[in-house]
Parts: sequence; structure tokens; C-alpha cells
Amino acid sequence: MSNQYVIVPQNYRSDSMVSISPADKRYFEQAQAKQKSPPQQMMFGGYSPSPSLQKTLSTQLSEQSIDEFGKMQKDSDTELVVQYILQLRDTEKREQALSELSKKRESFPHLAPLLWHSVGTIAIFLQEIAVVYQHLQPAQLTPAQSSRICSVLGLLQCLALHVQTRSCFLRAHIPLFLYPFLNTSNKSKAFENLRVTSLGVIGALVKGDDPEAINFLMQTEIIPLCLRIMKKGQELSRTVATFIVQKILLDDNGLNYICQTPERFFAVSQVLQTMIDDLHQSQKDDQRLLRHIIRCYLRLSENQKAGEVLKKYLPQVLKDPTQSFIKDEVVKKWHNNLLQNLSIK
Ligand code: TRP
Repeated sequence: MSNQYVIVPQNYRSDSMVSISPADKRYFEQAQAKQKSPPQQMMFGGYSPSPSLQKTLSTQLSEQSIDEFGKMQKDSDTELVVQYILQLRDTEKREQALSELSKKRESFPHLAPLLWHSVGTIAIFLQEIAVVYQHLQPAQLTPAQSSRICSVLGLLQCLALHVQTRSCFLRAHIPLFLYPFLNTSNKSKAFENLRVTSLGVIGALVKGDDPEAINFLMQTEIIPLCLRIMKKGQELSRTVATFIVQKILLDDNGLNYICQTPERFFAVSQVLQTMIDDLHQSQKDDQRLLRHIIRCYLRLSENQKAGEVLKKYLPQVLKDPTQSFIKDEVVKKWHNNLLQNLSIK
């Protein structure tokens, strides 16, 4: 990990997570300068409330942004979303506003830029996250607290997914705030939801096949955190974590990175093996998880060094070309290709 990033101790502690390097400082200064004269298309993602809302907003938002409002059309959905964003500033109304906004994230395509470029919104999200840290150890997260933080994480997913905000989101190092959530192991539903939704943010980052996102993740401790969840996690968190590792492997830099050292390669292949053994022993028919695991193996087999080692370390059940627990035709084909790459067949 380069020292531009936060150094994370073995037992990730939230209070040792934030440090600002000269490069970060420069970035923030540049970002601030940009905010003083925002490019038109970036301002609230091209959306604005009606003139009736402008008055309310004028006390909350920068003057430049108000100029943009007049040029834009009234849209009642936008008005509603902007109302909720403003309500985030009111601690009494915040919980409701978070819940309503997170429900809008699929139906309102410009939510992400609106959230990112509105004044104070991201700071509010980070504050909400920091409040939860104290309930992780000892584990005392209530279902209500879990649901509230999952709304925030749902909105972070939306920022991670949107092409206009993804890069800002990465450069502000926001995924690092998720370490303490990913590092939990309590089995209750409140904690599992927290882990799954946090993984969902990383999943959203890698979904776009954006090399910048993969390069970012390679400089963090997110991969080992995913591997830990794959090894010990419950069904859903395990599947999302495996999807993330699959997406990293499918990227050329990602594959090289993981195959660069024996420690990294074995960390990944051992966890894949554990999951295969688990599925096999428990007779669980989890085709979705199996699909991700096989895709990861196939991709590893495309790296020459890794392929040689895999020949020896591929789980015994997968060495059998006639095995019957793979049902999906596409996955069967991947499995065949895997055996061919390893000259097992
Ligand atoms: N910083 C660690 C490294 O570069 C990250 C890491 C730990 C890792 N375990 C891993 C990365 C396993 C890939 C696979 O090695």
C-alpha cells in the first residue's frame, strides 16, 4: 500500500483511519477551487428545483448554483428530492429523509450528482457513518440503527455507480470509511445487512468495469476484507464479496496484481477452495456463488504462473470433468475451459 493512502493496522480502528497526504491536500484545494466556479453541466447534474424552491435554497446553497436554477425546468420529482436533501440538515427529519432518498436511487437517475454537489450532504453521510462505529465493538447495533446506516450506504452505492460521481468518490477515499463495517463478524441480521450493504458500495464501484476503480481498490485493504468475508461470511455477503474479487480478477491489472506475489495468490485460491469444500460438504445448491467461484478460477488459469500452481491446487471435486453439481450451461463451459487451460482434460 503506498503511503499516499491511510495505513491500516491489523485490527482496523476507526480513530486511526484518517490522514491527509500532500497529494490529498492538493486534491481538496483543487476541488474547492472547482466548487467556486462549477461547470454548468456538473451543477446538480443538470437538475434544479422550481423557482418557488429557489428562495428556500438560496440560504443553503452557493450563489452560483442559484443562477443555474432559473434556466431549468420544473420537475416535481426533482423538487421532492431537493426537499429531502435539504431535510438532511435537520437532525429531526434526517432519518426520514435518508430513507426516502434511498428509495429514489433507482428511479431518479440524477440523484448521485445532486447528492455530491449539494453543500454539506457528503459531510452528513460521513457523520452518520462515524456515529455507528461506536456500536460495532461491543456489538450493539439495533435493527433501527442498522436500517438508518443502510440508507446512507445505499446512497453511497448510488455515488459509486454513477459515472459523474465515481471518480470524485474515489479521490475522496470514501470507501475507506467502510473498513470497520466490513471487518465485523457478528452474525445478527443487523450486522449482516450492514456488511452486505457496505459490500454493495464496493460492488457498485466495480460494476462499471472502470480501471480507475480497480486501481483504487488495489491500493487499499478491501481485497483482504472481502477474502475474510468469503471465508467466514453468510450466504449473501459471501456472494457479493466473491463478485467483487471476480471483477478485480477480470481486469488485467487486477489479475496481475493478485498473481504478483505467492501470498496474494494463495490467499485468493485458498478462500476459493474453502468455499468449494463448504458447498460440496453441505450439499448446498448455491449456483450463483458457484458461478462466481468458477469464473474466478478460470480467470486465474489465464495467468501463466497461477495456472501452473493451480494445476496442483485445484480442489479435487473440480478436477472431475464429469461432475454434476454445476447446472448452468455457461458455467459448465467455463469449467471446461478451466480444465483445458490447466491441461487436466
Ligand atoms: N496490502 C496487501 C498486499 O498488497 C493487500 C492484501 C492482503 C492482498 N492480502 C491480499 C491483496 C490478498 C490481494 C490478495 O498484499
